[in-house]
Amino acid sequence: MSERISPAEEHALLREAESVSERAYAPFSKFFVGAAIVTSDGKIYVGCNVENSSFGMTNCAERTAIFTAIADRGRIGKLDIKAVAVVNRDGVPCAPCGACRQVIFEFGPNAIIIYRNKEGKIAQTPITELLPEGFRLEG
Ligand code: THU
Repeated sequence: MSERISPAEEHALLREAESVSERAYAPFSKFFVGAAIVTSDGKIYVGCNVENSSFGMTNCAERTAIFTAIADRGRIGKLDIKAVAVVNRDGVPCAPCGACRQVIFEFGPNAIIIYRNKEGKIAQTPITELLPEGFRLEG
């Protein structure tokens, strides 16, 4: 079950995401994105989008943050994502793309996603609502 994030924690995560959005490499789309994830043991990891002249090689901010966490966790323990905040540097709505939703689900089936929605409001939505029936390989 996903639990809502407190206003203080939401604020802290959004600040981290805003800060890292300044470091995005997005010369092609000019859509500068930052993401911050918090783990169930309280550690924060951040990431930005990294584009490429070969457009399909682009990595979204959320996946940058998650892959950074995976690279770090080997020595600490399994990655369990409690929440993901994602922002566009210029404050325009930015919900996670479909690919990122599946990657978030892999490591945070109970995660809460914090983002600016189509109405321009900051929303907290469980990943299972953004990605019903997420794929999982059992076994
Ligand atoms: N992008 C992200 O980093 N995260 C999202 O949730 C949506 C899209 C990036 C990918 C690309 O660099 C740019 O935004 C425009 O699609």
